[in-house]
Amino acid sequence: MQMNMISTPVNRATRHVPTWIVYLAGLIPLVWIVWLVLSGGIGVDPVKGIEHRLGKDALWFLVGGLAITPLRRLTGINLIRYRRAIGLLGFFYVALHLLAWVVLDMALLWGQLLPDLYRRPYLLFGIAAFVLLVPLALTSNKASIRKLGRNWRRLHMLVYPAVILGVVHYLWQMKVITQEGWIWAGVLTLFLVLRLFRV
Ligand code: HEM
Repeated sequence: MQMNMISTPVNRATRHVPTWIVYLAGLIPLVWIVWLVLSGGIGVDPVKGIEHRLGKDALWFLVGGLAITPLRRLTGINLIRYRRAIGLLGFFYVALHLLAWVVLDMALLWGQLLPDLYRRPYLLFGIAAFVLLVPLALTSNKASIRKLGRNWRRLHMLVYPAVILGVVHYLWQMKVITQEGWIWAGVLTLFLVLRLFRV
């Protein structure tokens, strides 16, 4: 009863929000980064500033996507129809984050990529996460859902190892894990446990 007091008005309000609004709102962090670059507010090391912000945005969308099913089961708030948009935005920010590494950090010096991976092995975890996310992004459309049938669900379970790899990559690049890092790890663990118990 009490659950409905919250979920019913939220569901009623979001029913009229089309998914394109979510895509559009999802571009706000990117516009913010562009603004910070143009206004000189990105920090003393703009490449790091851009790279880190894109990585963090990716994390928000990817982990946010994992929250949608437990949110519905625990509170009744149903945002399932926005899950694809949130997941694709996560992939979009990971792709930009990867691009920032290749173009800005490595300055397109292809010969530097492998030595950098050797120097910073946590990048491999990020790349592995990206590789797992590619088939998910490519099959996030109605035709693929129809074509793959039950296998579509199985395939999309890859989001869990992908986000785990992404979070490990994030924690490892910190060297000393901060309070924020522990919070991300805790939230991810919570979603994994909820998934395990099918909550
Ligand atoms: C799911 C995939 C990924 C996620 C969630 C992710 C997330 C992050 C986050 C949150 C940070 C740190 C941000 C901060 O401290 O504010 C970071 C750093 C970084 N990531 Fe990723 N990342 C992913 C994949 C990748 C890939 C594919 C690459 C390309 C090789 C990459 C390269 C980097 C680099 C170069 C840094 C900066 C490390 C440093 O300053 O030493 N990441 N990433």
